[in-house]
Amino acid sequence: MRHIAIIGTGYVGLVSGSGISDFGHKVICADISEEKIKVLQAGKIPIYEPGLDELIDRNTKAERLSFSTDVGKTIRDSEVIFIAVGTPQSENGEADISAVKAVAKTIGQNLNSRKVVCTKSTVPIGTGKLVMSIINENNPEKMEFDYVSNPEFLREGSAVKDFLWPDRLVIGTESDWGFEVMRDVYRPLYINETPIIHTTVETSELIKYASNAFLSLKISYINEISALCEKVGADVHVVAKTMGSDGRISPKFLHPGPGFGGSCFPKDISALVSMAQNKNVPMRTIQAAIETNAHQKKRMVKKLQVLTGDFSGLTIGILGLAFKSKTDDVRESASLEMVGSLLKAGAQVKAYDPEANTSFAEFYPQITYCKTWEEAVKDTDAVAVMTEWNEFRTMDAKTLKNLMKSPIILDTRNILSRKELQKNGFSFDNVGRPMETK
Ligand code: UGA
Repeated sequence: MRHIAIIGTGYVGLVSGSGISDFGHKVICADISEEKIKVLQAGKIPIYEPGLDELIDRNTKAERLSFSTDVGKTIRDSEVIFIAVGTPQSENGEADISAVKAVAKTIGQNLNSRKVVCTKSTVPIGTGKLVMSIINENNPEKMEFDYVSNPEFLREGSAVKDFLWPDRLVIGTESDWGFEVMRDVYRPLYINETPIIHTTVETSELIKYASNAFLSLKISYINEISALCEKVGADVHVVAKTMGSDGRISPKFLHPGPGFGGSCFPKDISALVSMAQNKNVPMRTIQAAIETNAHQKKRMVKKLQVLTGDFSGLTIGILGLAFKSKTDDVRESASLEMVGSLLKAGAQVKAYDPEANTSFAEFYPQITYCKTWEEAVKDTDAVAVMTEWNEFRTMDAKTLKNLMKSPIILDTRNILSRKELQKNGFSFDNVGRPMETK
């Protein structure tokens, strides 16, 4: 059993902290935000993430997991310190690592024994070296420490599962002791034969960006193919599935949609482009993925406009505000572009998301938020399905039609039955599939 500190209680910090405590270690999650820690100490979870409440509850009851605002003491009391603070996008597209630097300083000031310092936050390549030098500068006693880069590959909505059953673990370190300690932290996974990839710090830092950028490329690629499918009458799902049956391609992340969002892909790919630019390496493919994604979000607005004509004076129902299902996160969500365009064009918006109404209201407080999808579609001139929540998959076309003023629907996630919509006389569109079904 190891004593572990997790600095930062965002979704990576919370999922990693509770996951590591579930492995049997003693974990303290620390954050400078008193508000966040107060909520956690009261047994509440500040984010919606399936399975996280149960994981936190189980491990706090077993006294393996606790929360603190005393970051310094948490560091002094631990032998492994994970940096899991946010690295948001700054105005020039680069990642803002000021929080990482601040934590490095605090670690330096509180090093009282040899410790492993491990960065989980997604940080630009070279940050490891910077963190090491900040710790050294702030550590007058010159206490020894070992540095590790251990990027996270969690997806919001399935983060707990991704943490407990990862495809691989990446441990970037030049230190043998650091590697051994990390292997011990992740011992249950190691026993389960999860591949552990031991790299240098820089390679590990780059693996994270390269992975996220590649997944974004796949999505933008299939979104472009979907536009071509629409023009030539092909079905993008059959194209994607058949492409994916080639082991070299894989069917995952080839689902067309309204354009990717979230707190990771948009920020990480723009950071990668900036980093590469600074080294005079053009990232043409990634630049193209960014452009395609911005265009895809606008393309959805255009599709709705083709169905309805001028938006002015219309009431539009928006089903789904989160950037994907099973999360309350709306950052960079395609719904932001859609709602923004509708309001600008003079439409009224009624919206419903099972989890994200509150977070969306921070961006657009002026729209009407509903408690059910039925309420959101009632008396609307058209509806756009923006997020693939299960409850939208099972909406009955007949009920929809009866509730709406006119039967017009845009399905940006391809989750509705075209046959049913057709049967009920809907005027509709989706992404990359022919309207007529056989
Ligand atoms: C992503 C990565 O998948 C994780 O591996 C990584 O750890 C995480 O970023 C991170 O860097 O922290 P996340 O953003 O939570 O995870 O969610 P994804 O499931 O990757 O979805 C991202 C966006 O792509 C969503 O808007 C989703 O709707 C869209 N998407 C995904 C598609 O449009 N099509 C697909 O086939 C897959």
